[in-house]
Amino acid sequence: MPAYRAELRLMAGSLHHTAELRVPRPIIHFAPERHWMNDPNGLIHHQGRWHVYFQFNPEGNEWGNMSWGHASSSDLLSWTEHPVALRYSPTEQIYSGSIVHDQTSEHDRLRAIYTSAYSNGKQAQSEATSSDGGMTWTRSPHNPILDRGTSNFRDPKVIRCADPEGRERWILLAVEAEDRQVLFYGSDDLETWDYLSSFGPTGPVGVVWECPDLVRLPLDEDPERARWVLTLSTNPVGDEADREGSSMSYVVGDFDGHTFTAEAPGLRRLDHGRDFYAGVTFADAPSDAPIMLGWMSNWQYADQIPSAPWRGAMSLPRELSLRELGGRAQLVQRPLGLDEALLRSDVSSAPVPAGGASWNLSVHSVIDLAWDPRVTGNAKLVLRGQSDFVEVTHDTNSGELTIRRGGRASEAVHPDFPSLISMPLDPSAPVRLLICLDGPLLEVFANGGEQVASHLVLLGGGAVSASITTDRPALITVAVGDLAGESQR
Ligand code: FRU
Repeated sequence: MPAYRAELRLMAGSLHHTAELRVPRPIIHFAPERHWMNDPNGLIHHQGRWHVYFQFNPEGNEWGNMSWGHASSSDLLSWTEHPVALRYSPTEQIYSGSIVHDQTSEHDRLRAIYTSAYSNGKQAQSEATSSDGGMTWTRSPHNPILDRGTSNFRDPKVIRCADPEGRERWILLAVEAEDRQVLFYGSDDLETWDYLSSFGPTGPVGVVWECPDLVRLPLDEDPERARWVLTLSTNPVGDEADREGSSMSYVVGDFDGHTFTAEAPGLRRLDHGRDFYAGVTFADAPSDAPIMLGWMSNWQYADQIPSAPWRGAMSLPRELSLRELGGRAQLVQRPLGLDEALLRSDVSSAPVPAGGASWNLSVHSVIDLAWDPRVTGNAKLVLRGQSDFVEVTHDTNSGELTIRRGGRASEAVHPDFPSLISMPLDPSAPVRLLICLDGPLLEVFANGGEQVASHLVLLGGGAVSASITTDRPALITVAVGDLAGESQR
């Protein structure tokens, strides 16, 4: 694999002209061949393969006819799409849920626990079984298996966990979305569920809670100081709905197998970008660290993204850990799958001249940047495509990293698509940014994943021009790797 040559030249300031905007398919992220997808569902590592199910419309590229699509992968980077796993019917849509491996002396099977969204408006949890490794599914004749008679009870995530007496049990968490509550249930057989407790409401009002998950993480790699982290997605609703749209949050606390207790009030942002939602973790991942996938879009404009014949994609898989930062436990997200491309990258470490430096790169690239803001002063990276741009700016006074996306294509998609977001970085530390651009998907991991922002971007299908400017001529280390393997070049 030849290294990607970052072609450094002085900034010429030439803009590309807009032809018809093409939204290229991502290369290392999952997107369905055609039609609409949203949340990841039923993530599980089983018999050596990673299985991803997902909210899918088998008939069109708008939300509706919700069913579970299915894909699998051996490496989390290249995906094979399979036939629809659970199909909607005229009276029931199949909403989000999870899968566990149910192995006893009598059976060895996968169990999917999902939300039945009935045409009468009620939502309840149902169950299906697969005896062929997740390819075909048989629904339980006892469905729904968990029913409160309400209309916003959804997104069951089932995990294995010890109860207060130290006995291993199945724990199911699901939301009462409008009440902003997570409800916990326990079971020994995945069929009969006892109500245990609830968490919430807390945090912003005017949102629904969706897609909860619960993971146990050592703090600073010390299992003696492990914490439980509750993750959830929030989507603004109502007349005054926040136009920033949907996003993910987390709460650090303790779970004793019965009750979740938060360490501090409120919700903390999990991803500062506009397009990371419904993230959940894989069951039975071979490594100890949980791996999360999210849907890279936002309910505010998801149905406007011009990416026919497919619409919707997953994020990169991210390994989760907890680090003590600024006196509190903070979630850290490390992307998987970029190391290969970075190994093939071309590293240039050159002083950025007074007028800035620029180069061209593929719209499927990984960029690794490192600099010392005490030497450079403020720094700005601009990625520019056919009509649109992304500006990543580090401000030494505030210590904030901001990301602005805009341009004609962004404005045309939706009035709320052009945006400026910010995330706080340690103002005294060097800055390290790992940026993955895979077609319309941009993920920025700052300082080893201490802060993350995921964004859809509309840079078109051609080459992207990148430029860096700094307040003072200074050294910036730049490594650019091409995500396309040898076969695609
Ligand atoms: C989250 C969500 C879930 C629901 C599914 C329906 O994005 O709204 O709460 O199960 O999508 O497609």
